[in-house]
Amino acid sequence: MKKLGIIGAMRIEVETLLGQMEKVSSACHAGSDYYEGLLEGLPVVVVQCGVGKVNAALCAQILCSCYGVTHLVNTGIAGSLCKELDIGDLVISQDAMYHDFDCGPFGYPAEMVPGMDVTAFPADPDMIRCAFAAGETVNPGHVKLGRVASGDQFVASKDKKEAIISLTQALCTEMEGAAIAQTAYRNGVPFVILRAISDKADDSAEMDYPTFETIAAHRCAQVTRIMAGKLADRPL
Ligand code: ADE
Repeated sequence: MKKLGIIGAMRIEVETLLGQMEKVSSACHAGSDYYEGLLEGLPVVVVQCGVGKVNAALCAQILCSCYGVTHLVNTGIAGSLCKELDIGDLVISQDAMYHDFDCGPFGYPAEMVPGMDVTAFPADPDMIRCAFAAGETVNPGHVKLGRVASGDQFVASKDKKEAIISLTQALCTEMEGAAIAQTAYRNGVPFVILRAISDKADDSAEMDYPTFETIAAHRCAQVTRIMAGKLADRPL
């Protein structure tokens, strides 16, 4: 049976979903509350992981080890790295990689984690299809499929933004997705990241982020709910 683990970094990214779930029970692990129930008829476990890669990875691993999730989705907001992606637009991950990992002095390609056989962790094609279709329902014509770049940094300068673009060719940047992707990859669990743009990750980001955080986070929750419904209808 399918069970979807849903991870958001901040309260605002998960609270809408919690309000829409049925038969909810909760338990605390490593300081985070895990809410188990049904979303659009699909068994789900929702957790607010907190900000950053370590928080994200440990919650993803708890979802795999303690809850036996069969699929993982990371929902939330992101800074745009692409001229065509405006505030409120949606990104579905083709794959995800770090922008702040560097073992270059030992001969590893830029951003590659030693021991991994890929630099960018590929998202699951079927979850991509479900997420994309759900995104198009919520914001038609404003959904892009591409790379997500993650790092332990809120990106708020043009120079940093340009550096991340040339390193990763990603569509957006945030602080958890690739860590969840790596955890999913190591556990053999299919995943997808879906993000709504809250800012442009440049010198305007500090102003835009608080203004658009709520709208973007709620939009993402809407997409996640519709995606859960689509996954529920799919054979395992
Ligand atoms: N999440 C939303 N906007 C972001 C940004 N500019 N950098 C990192 N994470 C983000």
